[in-house]
Amino acid sequence: MLDRRSFLGSAAAMSAVTPVSAQALAPISLTSVPLPAASLRDTNPDAYWKALRAQFLIPDDVVNLNVGTVGSSPRPVLKAIFDGFETTEQMTQAGSEEYPIWGYGSWDQYRKPFADFMGAKVEQMAILRNCTEANSYVANGFDMKVGDEVLISDEEHGSGEMPWMLRSRRYGVVVKTFAMPKPPRDAAEILNRINDAITPKTRIIFVSHISTSTGVILPAKQIAALARSKGIISAFDGAHAPGMIKVDLNDIGCDLYTGSMHKWLFATKGTGFLYLRDKSVMDRVWNTVATGGYDDPTRMADRYMQIGSSCIPTLMGLNAAIDFANAIGMDRIEARNRMLTDYIHAEMTKRGAESWTSPDPALRGAIATVNVPGVQRMELQDWLWTNHKVRIRGGNPSKLRLATPYFLSKADIDRFLSLFDDYRKMKGIS
Ligand SMILES: Cc1ncc(COP(=O)(O)O)c(C=O)c1O
Repeated sequence: MLDRRSFLGSAAAMSAVTPVSAQALAPISLTSVPLPAASLRDTNPDAYWKALRAQFLIPDDVVNLNVGTVGSSPRPVLKAIFDGFETTEQMTQAGSEEYPIWGYGSWDQYRKPFADFMGAKVEQMAILRNCTEANSYVANGFDMKVGDEVLISDEEHGSGEMPWMLRSRRYGVVVKTFAMPKPPRDAAEILNRINDAITPKTRIIFVSHISTSTGVILPAKQIAALARSKGIISAFDGAHAPGMIKVDLNDIGCDLYTGSMHKWLFATKGTGFLYLRDKSVMDRVWNTVATGGYDDPTRMADRYMQIGSSCIPTLMGLNAAIDFANAIGMDRIEARNRMLTDYIHAEMTKRGAESWTSPDPALRGAIATVNVPGVQRMELQDWLWTNHKVRIRGGNPSKLRLATPYFLSKADIDRFLSLFDDYRKMKGIS
């Protein structure tokens, strides 16, 4: 390893002989690889998906079954980000008041394509920096009295639950939790649990659209209708939804919806969003982060974007990610995501794993979750990654979460399954 002095010395020596040019700095991701022909999608889908895999920098020998934590941006998205830095950093923007700073404007050129992608209008959509930030807006936003209740599920991510726990500790709001069935047989089972947990003090129902721990897709439209029928605000954490399944926010009819674009949509890290149904909801939601413009009601959702400086090339990458998904087609992406999950789920249950994934296809998407008593989840996870370049995630002691993005093949999944069999044999797990 080089110490600091020799590192600086070698860097100086290098720059003495090698002029630094954009070419020399060009990272591998700037090498563009043509997208497979659209005609292949129907004539030879296997060849189409195989060719699409080359858009991702993930090495060929790596099997990534954990897009649930964070996605990997494909080449066109990276190119848009890098080009974005190269152009914006020249500081040659047209207007004398124009700078590469998101956070002091409405940025409709980035909000509108994303709002369209999610079945919303631009004025309903605020782009923020991640889902945690958006969830914090929800938890901090409403005026609530000591003893007022928020109802959440027992499967919320820390980034959904903790903003409420913070508010609870600081201001006395009560966080009530209902247990999700594991697995839910159908939508009614989930709706009944929510209905039974509602009290006269329930002000907000805050649940994931797609559970981070089990991958179950909650019946968002029915939950929103149930909440509305009782005068309760409905808010969804949709961190996993954009890019995994087709989402139509205005059809869901919820009051608030948050999410991440860096997971299944493969957009830039540092992108999240907050959707607010209409002005009557916005009038009740205080900003959590604020700079000038935060209190201008005529701005609609963009007033929640008045957050100080942030990163414009990030938004350029977001637009490229939307174009990339649209070029493939969200219907095709969703169908392939689901097909791969159905496959891995069926194979794992054949092997005797206990399923936490719903048997109702409407309640599952691209994450299968199984419990395998006897397996040490962290040991298996480490062994798969360190020895075999296969990434999975799960929960202790023995829950495995298997996320299947469209760029995987059945052969990738078979590789995981065969390693899982080896591990079970090695450990004597039946
Ligand atoms: C359901 C859910 N909500 C929120 C988050 C946090 O998302 P972000 O990293 O965009 O803040 C995650 C991340 O895994 C998640 O699964």
